[in-house]
Amino acid sequence: MREFPKEFFWGSATSAYQVEGDNCNCDWWEWEKKGLLPYHSGQACRHYQLYTQDFDLAKQLNHNAHRFSVEWSRIQPQQDAFNPQEIQHYRDVAIALKSRGLEPVVTLHHFTNPLWFMKAGGWLNRSSPSYFLDFTRKVVEALCDQVNLWVTINEPMVYVYHAYLLGAWPPQQKSFIATRKAIENLMRAHLQAYDCIHRIYEEKKLPPPRVSIAKNMQAFVACQPAFKNSFAAKIRNRIFNFEFIEKLMAKKALDFIGVNYYTRSLVEVKGWGLRHLFLDVCTDNHSQLKRNSLGWDIYPAGLYEVLLSLKKYGKPVFLLENGICTDDDALRGAYIHEHLKCVLQAIQGGVDVNGYLYWSLLDNFEWDKGFAPRFGLIEVDYQTFSRKVRESARQFAGICSRGSLA
Ligand code: BGC
Repeated sequence: MREFPKEFFWGSATSAYQVEGDNCNCDWWEWEKKGLLPYHSGQACRHYQLYTQDFDLAKQLNHNAHRFSVEWSRIQPQQDAFNPQEIQHYRDVAIALKSRGLEPVVTLHHFTNPLWFMKAGGWLNRSSPSYFLDFTRKVVEALCDQVNLWVTINEPMVYVYHAYLLGAWPPQQKSFIATRKAIENLMRAHLQAYDCIHRIYEEKKLPPPRVSIAKNMQAFVACQPAFKNSFAAKIRNRIFNFEFIEKLMAKKALDFIGVNYYTRSLVEVKGWGLRHLFLDVCTDNHSQLKRNSLGWDIYPAGLYEVLLSLKKYGKPVFLLENGICTDDDALRGAYIHEHLKCVLQAIQGGVDVNGYLYWSLLDNFEWDKGFAPRFGLIEVDYQTFSRKVRESARQFAGICSRGSLA
């Protein structure tokens, strides 16, 4: 069988900070301004202004769904002030998608935080879930008649790992205690937001929403078959891939499982202690696999493994991100094809996968790596902001319209 289910979501994803431009009220902007990063997101792709054009292209490419995030710092620039124009902007974005036949999937938190929130202690503050709840309520009340699919938090473990453990992203902490605290608060934030979103739909007598997180999942592979490596791979798999999902499933707070999958992680423990157990990866050139332009292994089999490991939960799985940065567009086409093959295999294996969104619709600002990595189905010229549809996008468009692999 090479056919996907009839009702399948096909499309791509973006996040506000990476494409909109001029998000000057949040922690990332402040961090860039302080010169702590050699790049500046600046106007990014000017998607804030050009979104209708971009959605026209997505429609021409036969997408029927699109995931975007709302920028908290635009909507709530101060703790006690919401900006009605910005709320209207995101309502317009959702309407623009629907009028083109694209199902909106809305992310509430995608790595960036308002400055006031960070000054109040960010995700280490015990009140952070309730701050997030106020914001969630405001957004959902305004968009609920247009949106059914919600993602509360994008990649909570990736976020805390970079921001609170590695110290690579703002607020640049390097502490296990801070990391645990941030994880707890992000979980509580999701649980409260989940209930709140459902309550709003009930009160307004709208069909029940579907709410989840976007969980980054990796295939953890022991580099050399040593006990310490396979032991560390097991632990990382448990904590990184499953801790969040299991806790939220236990509270019945996931309507589907949102998955972001890119690559595998080659585990090689080089010393004693927690940091080695959790963080060491192989830095030798052991891998024979092709890689993206950031050096990540291309490992579609891992997607199959990940999807199959979710079968036990009996929930629909929605692939909310899968993609490659590369200057070799043929490699992008092959990447998509190979990963979709694994999605099909997982469906045949009994996993209820209901959609595939490529990351990303556009080339964009790749966080601490700047603009060099090109993830887009559509190429962006950062001087003129013109768009050019890549060949891989056309190949993917064929798959989207046929609903099958050729
Ligand atoms: C994130 C995106 C990011 C992409 C590629 C995901 O982890 O959600 O924001 O651009 O991976 O690194």
